[in-house]
Amino acid sequence: MVILVTGGAGFIGSHTCVELLQNGYEVVVVDNHSNSSPGALDEVQKLAGLPLTAYQVDLRDRKALAEVFDAHPIDAVVHFAAKKAVGESIQIPLDYFDINIGGTTSLLRAMHEHGVYQLVFSSSCSIYGDSQKVPMAEEAPAGPTNPYALSKWTCEQLLAETCSRYPQFTVVSLRYFNPMGAHPSGRIGEDPRGVPHNVMPYLTQVAVGRLERLSVFGGDYPTPDGSAIRDYIHVMDVADGHRLAVEHLGEEPGMRVFNLGTGAGVSVLELVEAFSAACGKEIPYQVVDRRPGDVARLIADSSRVEREWGWRTTRNLAAMCDDAWRFQRLNPNGYDG
Ligand SMILES: NC(=O)c1ccc[n+]([C@@H]2O[C@H](COP(=O)([O-])OP(=O)(O)OC[C@H]3O[C@@H](n4cnc5c(N)ncnc54)[C@H](O)[C@@H]3O)[C@@H](O)[C@H]2O)c1
Repeated sequence: MVILVTGGAGFIGSHTCVELLQNGYEVVVVDNHSNSSPGALDEVQKLAGLPLTAYQVDLRDRKALAEVFDAHPIDAVVHFAAKKAVGESIQIPLDYFDINIGGTTSLLRAMHEHGVYQLVFSSSCSIYGDSQKVPMAEEAPAGPTNPYALSKWTCEQLLAETCSRYPQFTVVSLRYFNPMGAHPSGRIGEDPRGVPHNVMPYLTQVAVGRLERLSVFGGDYPTPDGSAIRDYIHVMDVADGHRLAVEHLGEEPGMRVFNLGTGAGVSVLELVEAFSAACGKEIPYQVVDRRPGDVARLIADSSRVEREWGWRTTRNLAAMCDDAWRFQRLNPNGYDG
């Protein structure tokens, strides 16, 4: 099978490309490298010991995207390409709508025009918003609290509508909680452009001295230590979930939604402690005001995907910290260093 991976040079995309290649899939990547380096794809191919085909294309460029579909007999698409930072989305919401929603509709149009109907979509736990009830199952009501979350929720609704208007379409939407860590080889990991928006690359860059200290957003949440609680999940478990999603895509028509999380909540301060233990250094941090758009707790109920596909997480918090640190230690300046 030939799989088109949008955003394949990014953090989760690169780990998923390795998983797909190692499981016999042919991989074609489309990425504009707005938040990644082409070097990630060199490492992916070395790690897997297999080649892939990559195009530097913006998903919204319909002509260039059509040429990619013309050039390959694509069977299914795994769609990661998006902007993903909650705080930034409040500053530049229209960019989030344009790239995340506009990119997805451009992709759907290309798929429809080329008779490709199978899609795995990167959704997010952020669509659940500030739910009082944790863990959250897929039936929990959506309540996006920032433009990023709204863009993901809007995409899910557009995908559901597409499936009902065009019964040929099959979509699996994976709502991941907070992916972290890196491939255990230390060859690929999280290397965003500019100052990281996610906590783990921020921590690792503080540890190598590229950044001074971590800001912990909010010390007055209604949680035991006052910092926000998240369900951190190893990126290798997320990559595994995508391979399973591709395997199961054709089983049922229409759209299905699955959470991917561990079911365990970890506070930001607990994460700082776990990472300090992994890298053997105290990580300087300061507790600052809450960040607009953030919520107190996000914890997954992933029993649906375990029941239906037998997926469960196999790596713990210590492995996420060890692996993220190994990648940063071996690549202090990332892929371009
Ligand atoms: N990392 C997380 O915490 C998290 C959590 C839940 C959901 N997600 C979702 O998972 C997906 C992947 O996240 P990630 O952490 O790997 O992010 P990432 O930024 O590392 O990867 C996204 C990739 O998409 C590319 N891209 C962005 N806009 C593009 C466009 N218009 N055309 C082509 N390529 C484009 C970027 O260059 C990058 O390589 C995103 O859709 C994100 O919203 C991420």
